Amino acid sequence: MSKFFEGERLEAAVAKIAEYPQKRSAILPLLHMVQDDLGYVPRDAMREIAALIDLTPAEVLGTASFYTMFRFEERGKHLVSVCGGISCMLLGSHELYRKMLDHFGVASHGTTPDGTFTFELMECAAACGGAPAVEVDYLFFENVGPDEGVKLLEDIKSRGLEAVHAERGSVTAPLSPGAVEAIEAGPSPRTADPRAQSPEAMS
Ligand code: FES
Repeated sequence: MSKFFEGERLEAAVAKIAEYPQKRSAILPLLHMVQDDLGYVPRDAMREIAALIDLTPAEVLGTASFYTMFRFEERGKHLVSVCGGISCMLLGSHELYRKMLDHFGVASHGTTPDGTFTFELMECAAACGGAPAVEVDYLFFENVGPDEGVKLLEDIKSRGLEAVHAERGSVTAPLSPGAVEAIEAGPSPRTADPRAQSPEAMS
């Protein structure tokens, strides 16, 4: 298997490591670098990170597995995260999740056979005021009913959209006709990386 950190990726990793007084402090940015590119963090990439920042592979795995945002198995093109928190559950998120799974014929936390969607039930997404909340590739949708949720995913699928982009913030409350257009437009350069957003951009 070819290495992940080669060429430009290796240069970016070295530059990132140089931003920190201790190499090991770059562990999370390096993990994100892998996941942003591949959609998950393979074991081999964790070994590479360990070598780059002088940790053991077990230490990298131990850190990565602490955070629920990191995935260790290949996933579909789009990650659909339905909030299973109490507010969303009371307002029907489990019914929404079940409807999506049944519609696409996939098990909970599974991936559709064509690799378009991977589903997950997540903890409170901190959007309780807009429950039930759904994220598609970390883009929020609020007040999503079962039929609306299925329609949203069908729209994404039928348009063959590349990764729905992670521009955090409520896009639709409830889903509006402009929702998928907003997705299609993609991220603005300023907000391409959700972790780089200013608080103003997230309000
Ligand atoms: S319970 Fe769903 S966003 Fe908080």
